Amino acid sequence: MLTLGIESTCDETGCAIVKNGRQILSNIVASQIDLHMEYGGVVPELACRRHVDLMIPVLREALEEARISLQDIDQIAVAQGPGLVGALLIGVNCAKTLAWLLDKPLIAVNHIEAHLYAASMSQDIPVEFPCLGVVLSGGHTSLVYMPEEGSYELIGQTVDDAVGEAFDKVAKILNLPYPGGPRIEALAKNGNPNRFALKPGTVKNRPFDFSFSGLKTGVLYTAKGQSAKYSSVLTLPAEDIPDLAASFQQAAFSDIVKKTLAAAKMKNCRAILFGGGVTSNQRLRDMFNEAESSNIYYWPKMGLILDNAAMIAGLGYRRYLKHPHSASLDMEVMPNMPFIK
Ligand code: KG4
Ligand code: ZN
Repeated sequence: MLTLGIESTCDETGCAIVKNGRQILSNIVASQIDLHMEYGGVVPELACRRHVDLMIPVLREALEEARISLQDIDQIAVAQGPGLVGALLIGVNCAKTLAWLLDKPLIAVNHIEAHLYAASMSQDIPVEFPCLGVVLSGGHTSLVYMPEEGSYELIGQTVDDAVGEAFDKVAKILNLPYPGGPRIEALAKNGNPNRFALKPGTVKNRPFDFSFSGLKTGVLYTAKGQSAKYSSVLTLPAEDIPDLAASFQQAAFSDIVKKTLAAAKMKNCRAILFGGGVTSNQRLRDMFNEAESSNIYYWPKMGLILDNAAMIAGLGYRRYLKHPHSASLDMEVMPNMPFIK
């Protein structure tokens, strides 16, 4: 079975061909980072227009690299949400058109659920359940109990900024370009993580929820002075910036490691499944490896970490195996799509 996956939730245009839900024949991603960099973040209208320009060339390239033609595709999976409404419309309308044209099933997939599936797809052997799913992306920071594949119970989530969003905002404070995560990670490598006492927030009576907005403000005041604004100038000497980046990263990740392992223990999980762009951070992986835990860790592999269409195709295939029916061609995009009922 060949599944075409289509991804257009934010600022990456992706098309992939995946065989039997696992074997990636092609996984083409056209990033728009250059376009949004000068604005310090994704500009939705610009993202939509770029998706329109890129969707067909990216689809063509995915077919060429997989050495198949459109007629060889058995089903089409597309990210229905969550994401930017205009950006989602481009991918979903492309998927609907192809499903109608080729008379093949259309499968609507949740982008965040697909980030978790990416880690399963990255393993050579089947994942062991029960698992704790950990989503660390630009829009989500969630701990999800998974008693079996495709079954989810929300254990905790951020009450304000997502962890990736906090990295992006801290980068902006430090005058670093978008996306901030990789820049902060690089700077932090040369910094002292214990130099500045920064603390992420706790949420009353909700031990597995996150709050990163106070941590971000802590960085702002350390970098620009007490009660400074985002637009204020940096007052911290340049040689101290790596220490600040390292201290921020350490504070955010310590909080994530602590709450994740506590939640996994509470739910008697055998394994932890990681997903989302922030999981590309090596320091995060090292901190989990250094922590005391009997859990098996499943990380997504290169090409499946950041937004991509192979994870959409993979999850779409699994979904279709379980519920073999096509989504309606009237299906709407869902900018706030939940995957936990
Ligand atoms: O999962 P993703 O590609 O898109 C969303 O669905 O949000 O995640 C993007 C987020 C951005 O906030 C980016 O700054 C962050 O992941 N990120 C990182 C790293 N690489 C990307 N954060 C920390 N360290 C990194 N190396
Ligand atoms: Zn994503």
